[in-house]
Amino acid sequence: MRPILASILLFFLLFNCSSDDDSPAEEQLPPEPITAAFSSTISSVDPNTLLVSNTTTYEFDFTSTWDFGLDNGAVTGVTGTQTVRYDAPGTYTITLTVTAVNGVTDTATATVVVDGNGICPDNTCVTIPPPVEETNDSSGLKDLADFSVGMAITRARLNVPQHAEILRNDFNNLTAEFEMKMDIMHPTPTTFDFSAGDAIVDFAIANGMDVHGHTLIWHNEFAIPDWVKNFSGTNAEFEAMVENYITTTLRHFRGRVRSWDIVNEAISDSRGNPLRNTEGDGLGSIFRQKMGPDYVRKCFQYARNADPDVLLFYNDYNLALSVGKRAAMFRLVDDLGDLIDGVGAQMHISFNSPSRSRIQDLANGVVSRNLLLHFAELDVRVNTEGNASLTGLSTSRANAQKAKYQEVVEIYDAIPEANKFALTVWGLRDNETWLTDFWRVPEFPLLFDANYNTKASYDGFAEALAP
Ligand code: XIL
Repeated sequence: MRPILASILLFFLLFNCSSDDDSPAEEQLPPEPITAAFSSTISSVDPNTLLVSNTTTYEFDFTSTWDFGLDNGAVTGVTGTQTVRYDAPGTYTITLTVTAVNGVTDTATATVVVDGNGICPDNTCVTIPPPVEETNDSSGLKDLADFSVGMAITRARLNVPQHAEILRNDFNNLTAEFEMKMDIMHPTPTTFDFSAGDAIVDFAIANGMDVHGHTLIWHNEFAIPDWVKNFSGTNAEFEAMVENYITTTLRHFRGRVRSWDIVNEAISDSRGNPLRNTEGDGLGSIFRQKMGPDYVRKCFQYARNADPDVLLFYNDYNLALSVGKRAAMFRLVDDLGDLIDGVGAQMHISFNSPSRSRIQDLANGVVSRNLLLHFAELDVRVNTEGNASLTGLSTSRANAQKAKYQEVVEIYDAIPEANKFALTVWGLRDNETWLTDFWRVPEFPLLFDANYNTKASYDGFAEALAP
């Protein structure tokens, strides 16, 4: 009996052991299905490169296989962010296949659309809409001019029906008065906010207008976020931040914005008109301090790399009034060579200054360089005496203002067609002008009064264009 009992015991032991061997393997099988997932973003430095990250999460081991839709087939086992370049225009499918240890698989796919400009954000390739054919017999300023007639605008004002109606009637080029400046578009080191700019661009496109982007780099407190003013990294990190900012912004608006002021007001008003640098040169420029004397060129190069088609401008004030500043501007512009398309001359002027000949000299200098000329930010001050209790325009001041508007428009209208770009007025109604805040006295520098009535200045603008 004893050997038989021992055999039975052994049999049970073996039987139990073999079933014990099987069950742990069963328990190791992943109980949950696996779900493949990945994210992708367009590189901020190369419009044809996509950065693809596997975001699959799973509590057991799994392997990943990528197929980027290119001719080089599938790749297995790579980890981290993949850098994938799509050189040729076309539509591609990315497929990520994940396989769990038990052999269960899942796939995720995404489509990539590429056009001549690079990878299209959200697969939407946009092009600048062709000029809208005029279908009405309107005689607004834009209809009289053979150049773009621009207006400064804010997102909020687009929603005021009377305001929007005048925009549609008289203007065909919009500039954001402040919502496409750095403090709004890049409010923190890690975020961009293009929502206001997008609203302005959408309105413009819906109404057959162009948009002039203003302004990427401006040292002024009006436009610079605190985190940039107090930047704590190295100079190299600052420069990389600026490149990323310019690239991201231009690529966001690519195809929807016709032109950009890349650098605004870089030239100091102090003796010799050097580039603004430290406080001694008027307001200092953090960009000059951190990026060196070549910073303007660097910014234009970043912009050109990001969007080879958009028109690039340098913009500054007092270029007609100050002979020295104008010369410094032309030195800067000549040095930029092919990197620049045009000069923006801010026309914050007064009813009696600068003289016609100085404005003409400025125009001649731009034309002789075969550059586009933007008469930007036009407003014509009347309260140059600084009268704090001025309540309106006298007839003689209104007429003097009208004459100055007419003069500016005549000069612009007479330049060769090849140099024409736009003439932009800096605000619609007198009660909206930035000058009241700036000079802290009442001002009436624009084309419309507070009730949306045209002023004599409007007639001066129109008469300069009359056939
Ligand atoms: C002004 C705007 O009109 C204001 O609304 C804003 O707060 C500050 O900037 N030169 C420029 C413009 O290039 O951007 C400025 O616009 C006026 C001076």
